[in-house]
Amino acid sequence: MSSVIAGLPLEKPPPENVEVTLGDVMLWGVLPYVVIAVLVLGSVWRYRYDQFGWTTRSSQLYEARILRIASPLFHFGILAVIVGHVVGLLIPRSWTEGVGISDSAYHAMALSIGIIAGIGTLVGIVLLIYRRRTTGPVFMATTKNDKLMYVVLLGALLAGLATTMISVFDENVTAYRETVSPWFRSIFIFQPDIVAMTAASLSFKIHTLWGLALFAIWPFTRLVHAFTAPLHYLFRPYIVYRSRGKRPVPGAQPARPGWAPVGTPDRDRRGLPRQ
Ligand code: HEM
Repeated sequence: MSSVIAGLPLEKPPPENVEVTLGDVMLWGVLPYVVIAVLVLGSVWRYRYDQFGWTTRSSQLYEARILRIASPLFHFGILAVIVGHVVGLLIPRSWTEGVGISDSAYHAMALSIGIIAGIGTLVGIVLLIYRRRTTGPVFMATTKNDKLMYVVLLGALLAGLATTMISVFDENVTAYRETVSPWFRSIFIFQPDIVAMTAASLSFKIHTLWGLALFAIWPFTRLVHAFTAPLHYLFRPYIVYRSRGKRPVPGAQPARPGWAPVGTPDRDRRGLPRQ
């Protein structure tokens, strides 16, 4: 049975009798741990052996006009999508109901914010891909690895938005807070609730697999920059610039205009003039 809020059908509860196949065990009981292992070990490996490659490989020097709009749109959008996932996947229905948020209010909020965030992210990434394809030097700097990353990222986004749309229009879609969310939480206590995920609708399963694929390639792509976002920059103290004082400091070199030339120990030892 599905209930309706302001014309939106809510997802229906999962079926009682769920048949679990070997494929379900592999997909929802084994695959998540393989992906977590690849993500963690792959990131450690990349950090140890490719620190110089641990970068966004910024292309801002080649093109900045589209980037100035597309990059914040994508990054703020994806941040909102991540917050939405944390709430939707990690916080059980009983908790939100416990603080007085009814199921229908939750869904109205999740749908509206989720769709706006998802579409913002999608427009951002479409603009980024357009820029990459149409700006010569940016396209030249695009590797096969980047292309694969864009396909998987775009696929996960599109599948996520499609799944949300399907849950709005198809009243046979099962409640993800009764299926996907308990499964997701169960992974972290090493007791994967395979039955719960098996009971989820196909659209959720497809989207989750795209999400897992993205996490699996993450350490081997430019996406690693997300792990080292310079957040401290927002909280660092101001840098104080001081002009050189007029009075000479005892023992200090006399002030010269411009940069002080750099000597080398060899040249200094031989008494050659500094250049
Ligand atoms: C295993 C990982 C993931 C799981 C279990 C998951 C689960 C879900 C679920 C249940 C929804 C439906 C929410 C609703 O109907 O209101 C959803 C929506 C969505 N997902 Fe995911 N997801 C995962 C990974 C990702 C990733 C990696 C991305 C992006 C690259 C992504 C992007 C989206 C988008 C754009 C939506 C549409 C609604 C929104 O903007 O939040 N998901 N996801």
